[in-house]
Amino acid sequence: MTTEPRLRIAMQKSGRLSDDTQALLKRCGLKLNVSDRRLLAHVTNMPIDIMRVRSSDIPGLVMDGVCDLGIVGDNTLEEAALERALMNQKSKYIRTSGLNFGGCRLSIAMPEGFDYTGIESLNGLRFATTYPQLLNRFAKNNGIDVEFCLLKGSVEVAPRVGLSDGICDLVSTGATLEANGLVEVEEIFQSNASLIQTANALVPEKQAILDTLLPRIQGVMKAKE
Ligand code: PRP
Ligand code: MG
Repeated sequence: MTTEPRLRIAMQKSGRLSDDTQALLKRCGLKLNVSDRRLLAHVTNMPIDIMRVRSSDIPGLVMDGVCDLGIVGDNTLEEAALERALMNQKSKYIRTSGLNFGGCRLSIAMPEGFDYTGIESLNGLRFATTYPQLLNRFAKNNGIDVEFCLLKGSVEVAPRVGLSDGICDLVSTGATLEANGLVEVEEIFQSNASLIQTANALVPEKQAILDTLLPRIQGVMKAKE
């Protein structure tokens, strides 16, 4: 018995993009039963499987062809591409469509009262971040040297506990910065969610599923404008 090819889409399991991603798939007519522990969810009315993973794993899963599609933040995608470039690996993927949710910016923020007079005030300082490559690129482009310490979450706590001088993290409403006594001083990257696709050619059956899905995604995006 041959099994019918199923299009595999990677999405964030939980976090900033997961609710909007799930809502998008539902509005596209995909019937799926997402329970917290089920990491590979079958779509019951189309030959599609949804793989629910950490957002930072999505670019690699698509670039390596494990998943055919992925819905991921541009910040995560760019960080992964820079990381691969550092290891002399090519980042092979197609950015199929921008999506109109998940908007945020990656910014440098300093404790209230820090005497910020321009980018050079950041020279030699240490930053907590989940995005060391994006921070490094910003520093290089602006002729400053920075140190970083890697935190995968709760980045805003770092200056208060003496781990770093400042932070480089995502800002959406600014509420987390404010609640932690931090002030945004430089925006270094603007981000939205994107639909990305493996650079490998899809088998015709999977391409046909994508050809059905893509206009639906674009229709949902248009309706939201
Ligand atoms: C994200 C991000 C910021 C915050 C920004 O964190 O890392 O901390 O949201 O949103 P705001 O500007 O609207 O406050 P998240 O809540 O996802 O938690 P985590 O960093 O601990 O994963
Ligand atoms: Mg956070």
